[in-house]
Amino acid sequence: MPRKNYRIAHISDTHITKHGQFDESIFNMGLEALDTLNPKPDILVHTGDLTDNGILPDYELAMDKLKSVRYRYIIAPGNHDERNYGHSIFKEMIGPLDFERDEGWAKFIVLNSPEPDRDEGRLGRRRQVYLEEALRSTSAEKLKVIVFHHHLVPVPYSGREVNVLEDAGDVLDIVLQNHVDLVLMGHRHVRHAIKIDETVLVNAGTFSCIRTRGRYLQSFNVIDLSADGTIKIVEVDIKTNEERILKYFPKVNAST
Ligand SMILES: [Fe+2]
Ligand SMILES: [Fe+2]
Repeated sequence: MPRKNYRIAHISDTHITKHGQFDESIFNMGLEALDTLNPKPDILVHTGDLTDNGILPDYELAMDKLKSVRYRYIIAPGNHDERNYGHSIFKEMIGPLDFERDEGWAKFIVLNSPEPDRDEGRLGRRRQVYLEEALRSTSAEKLKVIVFHHHLVPVPYSGREVNVLEDAGDVLDIVLQNHVDLVLMGHRHVRHAIKIDETVLVNAGTFSCIRTRGRYLQSFNVIDLSADGTIKIVEVDIKTNEERILKYFPKVNAST
C-alpha cells in the first residue's frame, strides 16, 4: 500500500504514423488534457501500439511527439510496434522491451507480450520466470505494477474475443499468487477495469487511433492510488475533456 497518494496517467494505442490510423489532432488534444491534470501524474504509462506500422518513419514521428510529454514515462511494446521488424527500432529509439523500473514507491515490471508480425500475444515460460523473480525481489512496501500490451482477461464491448494472452492462465496465476497491485494493459481500444482477488487489472482505450469501437472513443485513464489503499480510475474523453469514474476499488490489498 502506498504511504502517500500517487497518480498514474495510463495511455495506450496511440498508433502514431503518417500513413494510417493516427489522428494527430486528437493526439495533440490528448497531450493538452494530460498537461492540465491536477494533481500532476507521478508517471505516465503507455501500454503499447505506440506506432501503427512499426516502420522507421512511424518511430521518428513518435520520437518527435514524445518530446512534448512532460512527465516521466514508461512504454511497453505492442503488436503494431513489432510489425516489419519494428522491435529493432523500438529497442534503439525507445528502450528495452522487457525491463524493471523502480520508482521508489512502486516497482514497474514491463514485459514484451507481442511477437514479430503476429497480433496474438504471449509471455512464454522464460518471461514468466523473469516476472516471478522480479516480483519476489520487490520489497513489500512498494506497489507492484505489471505493464504489458495484450489483455490478461477478456475485455467487454470490444467484439469477438481474440488475442487474450495465449498463456493468460499461467500469467494470471503468477499475478494473483504474488499479490500484484496493478496490471496495466491496452490492445483492445476499449477501457476496462476489474479487480480479481487483490489485483486491479486495467485496460486503457485508444489515445489517438481512428479505430474506435462503438461510442468508446479516444480516451485515457487517470489512476489514483491513495494512501488509504483505495484505487480510483477515471476515464478522460479526449474530444470532450469529460471525466468519468470508471471504477472505484475500496482497498488495494487486504493483507496490508
Ligand atoms: Fe492498438
Ligand atoms: Fe495491439
